[in-house]
Amino acid sequence: MHKICACLTIFEKTKFMFQSYQIQSKEAYEKAYLNSIQDPEAFWSEIASNFSWHKKWDSVLEWDFKTAHTQWFIGGELNITENCLDRHLPDNKDVAALIWEPNDPSSPNVTLTYGELHAEVMKFANVLKNNGIKKGDRVCIYMGMIPQLAIATLACARIGAIHSVIFGGFSAQSIADRLEDAAAVAVITCDGANRGAKTIPLKSVIDDALVAAHSVKTVIVYAHTHTAVSMHKGRDIWWDEEMNRMDELGLITCDAEVMDAEDPLFILYTSGSTGKPKGVVHSIAGYMIWANYTFVNVFQYQPGQIHFCTADIGWITGHSYIIYGPLSAGATTLMFEGIPTYPNAGRFWEIVEKYKVNILYTAPTAIRSLMCFGEEHVNGKNMDSLTVLGTVGEPINEEAWNWYNEVIGKKNVPIVDTWWQTETGGILISNLAGVTEAKATFATLPLPGVQPVLVDEAGKVLEGNGVSGNLCIQFPWPGIIRTTFGDHERCIQTYFSTYKGLYFTGDGCLRDENGLYRITGRVDDVLNVSGHRIGTAEVENALNSHTGVIESAVVGFPHDIKGQGIYAFVIYQGHAEDRESLTRQDILLTVTREIGAIAKPDKIQFVKGLPKTRSGKIMRRILRKIAENELGNIGDTSTLLDPSVVDEIIVGRLA
Ligand code: WT7
Repeated sequence: MHKICACLTIFEKTKFMFQSYQIQSKEAYEKAYLNSIQDPEAFWSEIASNFSWHKKWDSVLEWDFKTAHTQWFIGGELNITENCLDRHLPDNKDVAALIWEPNDPSSPNVTLTYGELHAEVMKFANVLKNNGIKKGDRVCIYMGMIPQLAIATLACARIGAIHSVIFGGFSAQSIADRLEDAAAVAVITCDGANRGAKTIPLKSVIDDALVAAHSVKTVIVYAHTHTAVSMHKGRDIWWDEEMNRMDELGLITCDAEVMDAEDPLFILYTSGSTGKPKGVVHSIAGYMIWANYTFVNVFQYQPGQIHFCTADIGWITGHSYIIYGPLSAGATTLMFEGIPTYPNAGRFWEIVEKYKVNILYTAPTAIRSLMCFGEEHVNGKNMDSLTVLGTVGEPINEEAWNWYNEVIGKKNVPIVDTWWQTETGGILISNLAGVTEAKATFATLPLPGVQPVLVDEAGKVLEGNGVSGNLCIQFPWPGIIRTTFGDHERCIQTYFSTYKGLYFTGDGCLRDENGLYRITGRVDDVLNVSGHRIGTAEVENALNSHTGVIESAVVGFPHDIKGQGIYAFVIYQGHAEDRESLTRQDILLTVTREIGAIAKPDKIQFVKGLPKTRSGKIMRRILRKIAENELGNIGDTSTLLDPSVVDEIIVGRLA
């Protein structure tokens, strides 16, 4: 059942660096799990010794969930880029590190060997230094999915600057908020990005963001789409010109900055149940080891394999499983600029065939959408190279799981359903491909080092199997969130206060009779739309910023492709009904400006009132039932200030 890549033969004689900790049997998993629980420090220090360090750590772990304090490998010194690049050079300098598939299938692709990627990263690191960017500075990266995005990210890490990658779909306002929160000194961007048939004017969005964000001194622009951009003297510079200048100056090599294990590596903004996205901070050593360990074990990566993660580097999945996990393991990572449906819905399968992809890691929303386009896009494509299929981002429904298994995997390729979060750095609960059992719609078992517990609303721990509750983790793993940038209290409040002594994930979860975990979705006010995390409060703030909107309430509803759609109930001043369609468009445009197109509600219902308690709290439970069309199940409305609003909302419900 478990296929071995043909390329393995080339490598079989050389002992690979992760051999000692790659779990290859169910028994080995059980043993590793037990060891990781009984003596976490010995377990992780053994694994950490496989990496390259400037100075060994003094102690392995210090933690206190009360104060959201976790440190791993304290006193150790390293640079993550030496682990992702330099250490592979002696044996694998000419191995492909990164393969880039452009948006337009007829444009030339790009392959960078480890030697080439290393050289590019060092040169660009010199560009950063030469422009006054130094260790500890925050650098925002807003680019399309092109090799320069990986180079920019790694170059920041090379010099110890903290990168904050922002997804290309966020608006100028969202970028400005993030730039300001991080007090970023520089932005790295492109003139534009290609996404299917569209070109996104990234630099122009940055120009708008910079009207409001004043900490930024330098903007480095990579010319990719060759669309016209404005360049501001004294601030904006061209990537290519700067790189050429490094050649002229002979600034070709760049020693890696020696960093503390607990120095921050990056900030990644993510939504929560309050209005403002928070900057999740990961530190270097623990994150690196977690990304590497999970990559090697969950996907059962073998030397020589091609790994294709379809996520965007603007999300944590791209950070951990396009860049840091694969590169730290010496793998070949495939980066795709485009979208799954361009020029047609067979694009993923074409890429798998073209590059003989071994590991494919994608999201349920992509699977569901491609499923709808029909099997004719899959038929005739040779996908025999596949050894692992992965899924992440939201619960996968059985139908999508079966299609992935039957149509893509031909029932011959293990599927890993990987549950994790921006805050966890890497995968926490998943089967190990071909090693531990898979079960449709179940993430199954915790990785070594991960100690899940289920609790009820009151925080009582639910023991035994066959129980459902809120998913918490009771012990730190190396990749756990370290803080929320600039506001540690918020980190404590959000993750470590709901249940005493536990990290709270915000997810609901079932542990079945056999002890396998199934994540059932968020239990807080966070939506998961096409695998994108969006806070309802954030969308409400955006809606409320529209002049005509008096008040709004946002809930999720089941959506065939996106998993969840956004349903907005809006109290609108005056007579929205006279020009409903135009008003809706105005409101949608406002949300696009405030957050980005990804947060646009699918449905906007104009209402006269919202169901509120006497103390003025909106009863979202009722609105959720209405949005989900569970009208027979609305429950008690007698505590409402005005129960009649519910009937009115039901009458006006949008199908
Ligand atoms: C939330 C985290 C982790 C990278 C992508 C999203 C949901 C994620 C699964 C899965 C069920 C999943 C959870 C989680 N989620 N993976 N395999 N099964 N739900 O990262 O934006 O931080 O979102 O995504 O609800 O809390 P994120």
